[in-house]
Amino acid sequence: MSKVLVINGPNLNLLGSREPHIYGSTTLADVENGLRAQAAELGLELDCFQSNHEGAIVDRIHQARAEGVGFVIINPGAYTHTSVAIRDAFGGVAIPFVEVHISNVHKREAFRHHSYLSDIAEAVMAGFGTLGYGLALQFVASRLR
Ligand code: DQA
Repeated sequence: MSKVLVINGPNLNLLGSREPHIYGSTTLADVENGLRAQAAELGLELDCFQSNHEGAIVDRIHQARAEGVGFVIINPGAYTHTSVAIRDAFGGVAIPFVEVHISNVHKREAFRHHSYLSDIAEAVMAGFGTLGYGLALQFVASRLR
């Protein structure tokens, strides 16, 4: 069975209560449970990980290679705009990934317009709300088939 890893970066543990006018009222647990149900229907093995720490995210990406993960779906949160380390981790393990943003980062402050990941991602979702995760998983399933 193909393995998919979902990574959420800093502050995404606060989903549901964090700036709901931007990120909505769905919690991270709701998102993860929805993805688990969808993965089961699609015949995929799915693991979820959230961390507020850059190094922990780098470590989890390294571990993914050892686990034989076929695709990563990542919302790197603010690390999108700052982290060469997370970019290099993906380069190092050569696992394809989709970059997901709940909000449309291009409609927001200029510092959110640049991503250290987009040019090496297979696909990028932005502005679909939390639906973006499920849409990304649908895409990943088609790629892993
Ligand atoms: C985010 C957008 C980032 O700019 C922000 O720092 C986040 C969440 C999003 O999902 O829209 O933490 O990645």
